[in-house]
Amino acid sequence: MEVVIVAEARAIGPVVVDAVAALIARSGAPVLGLATGSSPAPVYDELAARVAAGTLSLAGARGFLLDEYVGLAPTHPASYRATIEAELVARTDLPTGAVTGPDGTAADLAAAGPAYDAAIAAAGGIDLQLLGVGSDGHIGFNEPTSSLGSRTRVKTLTARTRADNARFFGADPDAVPRHVLTQGIATILAARHLVLVASGTGKAAAVSATVEGPVTAFVPASALQLHPHVTVVVDEAAAGGLALADYYRATYADKPPWQGV
Ligand code: F6R
Repeated sequence: MEVVIVAEARAIGPVVVDAVAALIARSGAPVLGLATGSSPAPVYDELAARVAAGTLSLAGARGFLLDEYVGLAPTHPASYRATIEAELVARTDLPTGAVTGPDGTAADLAAAGPAYDAAIAAAGGIDLQLLGVGSDGHIGFNEPTSSLGSRTRVKTLTARTRADNARFFGADPDAVPRHVLTQGIATILAARHLVLVASGTGKAAAVSATVEGPVTAFVPASALQLHPHVTVVVDEAAAGGLALADYYRATYADKPPWQGV
């Protein structure tokens, strides 16, 4: 696992988008795993800036959402489908038809999870999966005690996550859906490169548990320690709990520029 510590949240964007650009240069038609929420905003801002500048194109890319709320229509402004349309599709040349998400309105929710995993597999798997981390250590919406072997399925949000996400629902935790369809931890670990981004002091404990704590279902993001290619990009505030922060800084500073992340 590589940990990259940057001065401030907006500096997360260029580090991650350099990796996306290198992937596009290699494959031309990458499959991107797309997180929503606040953490990826610097990444989507940087992607939009480079597409506007003509230095990058997502025209050949495909995207798969990490998760979706159960019961929210894709047109609901807080749905993750609508969020990614606004944050990424509308601001870049990523075709809207190239983004797929779990169907949170499916009549058969039990079947929707395996169908989503099958769609990812049919696309050749995810090349680069962007992740945030919840203050309770969740990735996707795999809340604490989620099986490390889980695949896409329905999960119940914790009260803490619903409180954290109330800002997207008029500051009312009761308006946040209780259930979600989320990629499982094993689904996430099947992606070829995992990139977790976090900023702010509110994420410091979750980041240190993810990177330096034991692998445990109680901190689902700690499962990233099992993956051979993980990049954690955090600002100084989110890095505040890392015991080996100086080591991570020195390691990154000594990397040759061609190596990337
Ligand atoms: C979002 C997702 C979640 C968020 C996490 C952090 O698609 O899967 O795991 O990444 O809840 O959310 P923010 O970034 O809003 O703090």
